[in-house]
Amino acid sequence: MGNEFTAAELLARVNDSHSAAGDERVRTITARIVSDLFRTIEELDVSANEFWAAADWLARLGASGQVGLITAGLGFDRLLDIRADEADRRAGRAAGTPRAIEGPLYVAGAPLSKYETRLDEGQPRGEVLVMEGRVLDEHGRAVAGAMVDVWHANENGRYSHFDPEQAEYALRRRIQTDAQGRYRFRSFIPPGYAIPPGSPTAELFEALGRHGHRPAHIHFLVAASGQRLLTTQINIPGDTFLDDDFAFATRDGLVVSLEPGTPVSGYESLGVTRPFTRVRFDFVLQPALTEDESKPLARMARVTA
Ligand code: DHB
Ligand code: FE
Repeated sequence: MGNEFTAAELLARVNDSHSAAGDERVRTITARIVSDLFRTIEELDVSANEFWAAADWLARLGASGQVGLITAGLGFDRLLDIRADEADRRAGRAAGTPRAIEGPLYVAGAPLSKYETRLDEGQPRGEVLVMEGRVLDEHGRAVAGAMVDVWHANENGRYSHFDPEQAEYALRRRIQTDAQGRYRFRSFIPPGYAIPPGSPTAELFEALGRHGHRPAHIHFLVAASGQRLLTTQINIPGDTFLDDDFAFATRDGLVVSLEPGTPVSGYESLGVTRPFTRVRFDFVLQPALTEDESKPLARMARVTA
């Protein structure tokens, strides 16, 4: 056999050649992806310049740390949730609070409080929001000592850590539920989010004629011993992008009700002095089937742990 190939022969060589065992699963998936890309190039007659422009874009995307923005915008994050929901249904597992994507902007290790906290560093801005509720198990029993890890964007739609203008862990907290499974926090109603302009992500979205907006939302990881980690978000009602989320991450069951004009009485410890907007929301967890399912790990930490 020589070294002159047709495209089909080349593809077979790429996918079949190995001199060590390697990882069978990685080999299978890589072969499928390479085959699909070969086909794309051939059927759409992709030019060398187009191919290298794409490679350059991928390199810039990686260097910008925005790979997670593209996976969400192209639907992969939601696809994994849809598949997890389907697997739960097949296995007859209790549904609990719907899962929603983690997104690329979580940071572990936020300051920890018991029962209640402020996310706004004591600096009031925007419309005061107090969110409160309980963490419950599948039978509706309170889960004491659950960890509610919460994060959201600032008034400009940007997240601390990724935005150099914000303090470390701004608008990020962990709250441990009390003996009745209760948590509560004060913050402000966040605005919507948009992908950073001028970024490799924005470049692709412009070329696709797509916007990069997400409706206003607040993220949560809820973890407790013996319970399956819940990754979810709540959405603020009335947002223009509620049914047009660029990350396809909004879920009907997670659009909360706002209760404006909630009286101050009982909320003084959160520094409220005037009637404010309240959101009540209980998180319902599934029982964990394995220890791994209950680990309070973000998606990337889970695969490297
Ligand atoms: C993206 C941003 C978010 O705030 C989010 O919750 C999900 C995805 C993104 O930029 O891809
Ligand atoms: Fe987000």
